Amino acid sequence: MSLLIRGGTVVNADSMFKADVFCEGETITRIASRIEPTDVNAEEVIDAAGKYVFPGFIDPHVHIYLPFMGTYAKDTYETASKAAVVGGTTTLIEMVCPARTDEPEEALALWAGKAEGKSACDYTFHMGVTRYDDSAEAQLRKIVEDGIKSFKVFLAYKGAFGVTDDELYATLKLAKELGVVVTAHCENADLVAALQAKLLAEGKTGPEWHEPSRPPRVEAEGVHHFCTFLELTGASGYIVHTSCRDAVEAALPFRARGVDVDLETVIPYLTLDSSYAERGDFEGAKYVMSPPIRAAEHQPYLWNALKAGHLSTVATDHAPFDFVGQKDMGKPPQGDFTKIPNGIPSVEHRVTLLWTKARPDNINGVLDLHRFVDVASTHAAKRFGLFPRKGVVQLGADADLVVWDADHRGTIRAADHYMNTDYDGFEGFEITGRPAAVTVRGSVVARDGRFVGTVGHGGLLRR
Ligand code: URP
Ligand code: ZN
Ligand code: ZN
Repeated sequence: MSLLIRGGTVVNADSMFKADVFCEGETITRIASRIEPTDVNAEEVIDAAGKYVFPGFIDPHVHIYLPFMGTYAKDTYETASKAAVVGGTTTLIEMVCPARTDEPEEALALWAGKAEGKSACDYTFHMGVTRYDDSAEAQLRKIVEDGIKSFKVFLAYKGAFGVTDDELYATLKLAKELGVVVTAHCENADLVAALQAKLLAEGKTGPEWHEPSRPPRVEAEGVHHFCTFLELTGASGYIVHTSCRDAVEAALPFRARGVDVDLETVIPYLTLDSSYAERGDFEGAKYVMSPPIRAAEHQPYLWNALKAGHLSTVATDHAPFDFVGQKDMGKPPQGDFTKIPNGIPSVEHRVTLLWTKARPDNINGVLDLHRFVDVASTHAAKRFGLFPRKGVVQLGADADLVVWDADHRGTIRAADHYMNTDYDGFEGFEITGRPAAVTVRGSVVARDGRFVGTVGHGGLLRR
């Protein structure tokens, strides 16, 4: 298979140029100001005149198979990966989240089995460390040797995924020795438990009380806690789903002292605010995730932090649950916000929403084109050992490409989405721009909002 993309403007995190891009098989093999289809015997030609050509976007934080809060996340690899590529995401990094009693190697095999042969895009995993003992350590060493080169720890979810401080310390020491990055969900689990109990005792049971049960200081404490452990072990860290000013500010002094820690934010925090969780008729449950969607005043700070580089990536934390039958596990008459499965489906909309809000093609945009590519693709590729195979349009890279139509105008509707949920948290949002064509290793997988690829084309990336 060979594919020629003609007449577009290639944009990387550090370069921009008008060029034709030729892909032979799975790889970019030629980039030149003009390539005639007949010169290269191109089997397929995409006209990218007036469009941008970006490296495939990378979502470094998704949940697809997820046993959680008494239920399971709703997507399969088939539905989630179709949704991803339609939205321009060509690589997914999923969190493996075993129960404490599960064996790490069995858990990884279970998660990998859910993806094998069923993904339309490439994928890899962050290996969740939810228990640390001699047996877990031996298995983690093997898992890293096999190319799964990042861990995930939860400082939240007491009694479920959460680790003790002893386990956190041991995990970071191992990560330092093996040279792998530890990703972390940072919230103080004991404070969350105490605040949840207090609010419920006061009869505050609706979804709008989820945010007050996990306020910004609880997240900031988690960030400070994790960064302190990073500083004392010398390990490298990546803080997932940073939601607020307090959390970013908690990390900055550590970064200034040379602690190797990156911060991720996720698209819901940049586009939604806490008023969504206050919607009547239990609609607020659609917007319950952890850390919670914050008051609107945090948003300008997050955008500026993204621009300044204090935040490095925009992921989704895609965690899809239906409104009927799942989110309503916390509905009245029993009414208990702590029973609402945490998560917002968003893997399909990350890049279009980021583009719509950031307007990188506009002189007054919040991000420029290079920063846009960096936060949505290149930084994650570099941080998680996928670069330069992924995250850049250059010779020898995988032919994961997004031809971007900046002129498109549309509206998000659950009725149209590929995600396997009965609602869309961004219902009715107007969007500007979307992928006109998306390729994964040289195969066209999406065109103008429709999936045209093959499930099973995606493979596991060993790093
Ligand atoms: O609410 C969330 N974030 N759900 C998914 C699990 C996690 O904490 O990442
Ligand atoms: Zn989390
Ligand atoms: Zn998550």
